Amino acid sequence: MHPIRIAPSLLAADFTRLADEVRSVEAGGADWLHLDVMDGHFVPNLTFGPFITAAIKKCATKPLDVHLMITDPWRYADAFLDAGADLLTFHIEVAERGDVGALLAHIRQRGAKAGLSLQPDTDPRTLQPYVRQLDLVLVMSVFAGFGGQKFMPSVLPKVAVLREMGFAGEVSMDGGIGSSTIADATRAGTNAFVAGTAVFGAQDRGARIAELRALATAAR
Ligand code: DX5
Ligand code: ZN
Repeated sequence: MHPIRIAPSLLAADFTRLADEVRSVEAGGADWLHLDVMDGHFVPNLTFGPFITAAIKKCATKPLDVHLMITDPWRYADAFLDAGADLLTFHIEVAERGDVGALLAHIRQRGAKAGLSLQPDTDPRTLQPYVRQLDLVLVMSVFAGFGGQKFMPSVLPKVAVLREMGFAGEVSMDGGIGSSTIADATRAGTNAFVAGTAVFGAQDRGARIAELRALATAAR
């Protein structure tokens, strides 16, 4: 069984105090830092790129879990790996634009963990050809693009389908994860939990992370 990982999404952090925000969730027990990269094409929102990723890397001690919501990960993957991404995930929905297997192999060859993400309406079977090349599958439980959306329980059965397909790596869930949804995500087979609003919206981030971990642990 993969370890439970709580991955606060910095999308919900105060970007005027990014170093303090990173330290506060690391001190609060975060396992990974989740970075949401959006290009205004794959999703209707823009966030940040390799430059801010490198700045976060400078003040972080935990692994950077970089979620690329971009149309052309082939063009930018190296820039994020250079910036310090420890896990690099892109979306299967852009598969027709390049060689997915080659990019996964490249990410691993550069020493990072390789992931693919599924939008809520994407069939997990689209990942079948890559099952052995993947360290992580990021199951979106909201449509990618914005924080603070409502969790979609309809995605939960995807985790079991991934296991039936022979995927043995880590499963992460992203979108609307909080105290009222993390147990269902855990029971479905998820081990890594991305949480933006739930962590950064809490007065005491450490207490919230501990609560999420306890709920996930109890649901296993
Ligand atoms: C959405 C992002 C998520 C988002 C999660 O496109 O991929 O990581 O920040 O935010 P919450 O936890 O607020 O739903
Ligand atoms: Zn994300």
